[in-house]
Amino acid sequence: MKITVIGAGNVGATTAQRIADKELAEQCVVVDVVEGVPQGKGLDMWESAPVSGSDTMIIGTNGYEETAGSDIVVITAGLARKPGMSRDDLLAKNAEIVGSCAESAIKQSPNAIFIVVSNPLDVMTYVTMKRTGLGRNRVLGMAGVLDSARFRSFIAMELNVSVEDVTAFVLGGHGDSMVPLPRFSTVAGIPLPELIPAERLAQIVQRTRDGGIEIVNFLKTGSAYYAPSAGAVQMVESIVKNKRRILQCSVWLDGEYGLKNTVVGVPVKVGKNGVEQIIEIKLLPEEAAALQKSAEDVKANIAKVKF
Ligand code: LAC
Repeated sequence: MKITVIGAGNVGATTAQRIADKELAEQCVVVDVVEGVPQGKGLDMWESAPVSGSDTMIIGTNGYEETAGSDIVVITAGLARKPGMSRDDLLAKNAEIVGSCAESAIKQSPNAIFIVVSNPLDVMTYVTMKRTGLGRNRVLGMAGVLDSARFRSFIAMELNVSVEDVTAFVLGGHGDSMVPLPRFSTVAGIPLPELIPAERLAQIVQRTRDGGIEIVNFLKTGSAYYAPSAGAVQMVESIVKNKRRILQCSVWLDGEYGLKNTVVGVPVKVGKNGVEQIIEIKLLPEEAAALQKSAEDVKANIAKVKF
């Protein structure tokens, strides 16, 4: 197993480190345009291997030759948000960066599965699909795992229970119109609305929607990376080990949920082939309308992308 991580910034470097810590690959190649940074961070991570007991070899580079034959490519390259910016403000610049990274990577690794982490996430997933020419089963966007993880952590805090017992469901685009679904979120199998009063639940849902900007406002010079990298690596692990986990992933829809020609987060069975199955659940009219609205927002942004 060989995994490439494009971008040696906070998200990329943390992703590579988590891949190594979990020993998910024999080799993990970190690529970045900045000279010295991927080499330095890669070497630093490799030097931690004897202590962590991982034989995942980390290599940092500025070129793509070293990435040849990768099984998985994780794209984290691009600009991050600063306070006052929405994810959509990054669209034009990141479409250019992500598009060229995707194109360079697929040339070296025609059989790879791509996981996209750069923002605006759903649009960048589309850009990656277009620029690699891959079918939708091999291009997955990481957002739902992050948004659900945020929702889960807030629920665990609220109820003072183990995060392990909390499952949560967040559909839609990775933007202000994302769709957390309390009805499908549970604590040890107990539906959330049984445990948290509606008014309080609405506040937690809103905090989840604002989860990204909450961190941006603290950090001021960048956006979150611990939880985003954890989300990406959970998807990597499900592919590497063919675990077939049901994870909220951003994928191109072709009629599922009544949506076409757009990319949004839906429950996906993730395995060795990437998207093994898109799981459709029956939504209440208001839930379906919220998902539709979120999908329309993504579609409008996709229309702005220039190739
Ligand atoms: C977030 C950014 C990275 O949600 O999209 O933290």
